[in-house]
Amino acid sequence: MGGEEALPGTAPWQVQIYTTYQYTDADTAADCRPGGACFHLARMYPWERTHRCGGVYIGGNLVLTAAHCVAGVANFGQARRVRIGTQSIKQGGVTFRIADWRMHEGYIGRLPYPNDIALLRIVADNPAARAFRLERARIRMLGTAPGDTPIDRGDTLWVTGWGRTLKRDADAGVLVDGAFNHMSEKLLQIFQSPSNTACAKLADYRDRDPAKTICAVSARPGVDSCQGDSGGPVTRSEGRERVLVGLVSWGKGCGVQGMPSLYTSVPGHLPWIAASRAALLATAGGGRP
Ligand code: ARG
Repeated sequence: MGGEEALPGTAPWQVQIYTTYQYTDADTAADCRPGGACFHLARMYPWERTHRCGGVYIGGNLVLTAAHCVAGVANFGQARRVRIGTQSIKQGGVTFRIADWRMHEGYIGRLPYPNDIALLRIVADNPAARAFRLERARIRMLGTAPGDTPIDRGDTLWVTGWGRTLKRDADAGVLVDGAFNHMSEKLLQIFQSPSNTACAKLADYRDRDPAKTICAVSARPGVDSCQGDSGGPVTRSEGRERVLVGLVSWGKGCGVQGMPSLYTSVPGHLPWIAASRAALLATAGGGRP
């Protein structure tokens, strides 16, 4: 929310995780029952109905995302697919099948959502995906080269995603003054800065592990990541390249004054990423189907 368009090609590593489920008229009719949660399926754009999360391509057929994008999804490998290579999620890009995945075993699905990270192994299961130059889209992770310096509060963090675009109070639903809080068809970008102090004083954020998460705030009010951005990339400049420093995880509401955003630290999880990559390679077996 409060973002501007990320120009096509500037975030090639950005992926979308979408559901393969085809919604029916019965789903729309069953939506918004009294007492139940309301999805407002009828008010959503078709591309918005299927969008679930962001993700990041890190090379070697591997995608990083948030654990909460994987947790509780039955048959995750069939229920979701990965799209890459497009700025618009309405059209374009190529799609990949999720062959295998690992969710952090230390992830806990309640505040402060520790270890919100998962690694997916994707396979090209169609001609367009096989022709796609996947390795050109990869981003390097901070902490994997000798000259890398740690995340610092003077850093400018760049966050991209297709998530909700309106301000959202902590316990509010998806309607804002009667208007549906739509996701963005075009990839948007915002800038934030790390701030440990912003999280230190708030009860819900206090118990986070500062070595494994990044607390960040925006210089301008009303600029934040929001629902649908999760799992997507937080990057910064390292010399002339962009490196991956984090993944969108959570925040209380979106763009609420004084409420920081919490991101999973990628350098803080490099050992887990290495072990999970090895585990996924070990089970990769007979190669591509
Ligand atoms: N958990 C959200 C998702 O699933 C991301 C929330 C980010 N929110 C925030 N205020 N920074 O997409």
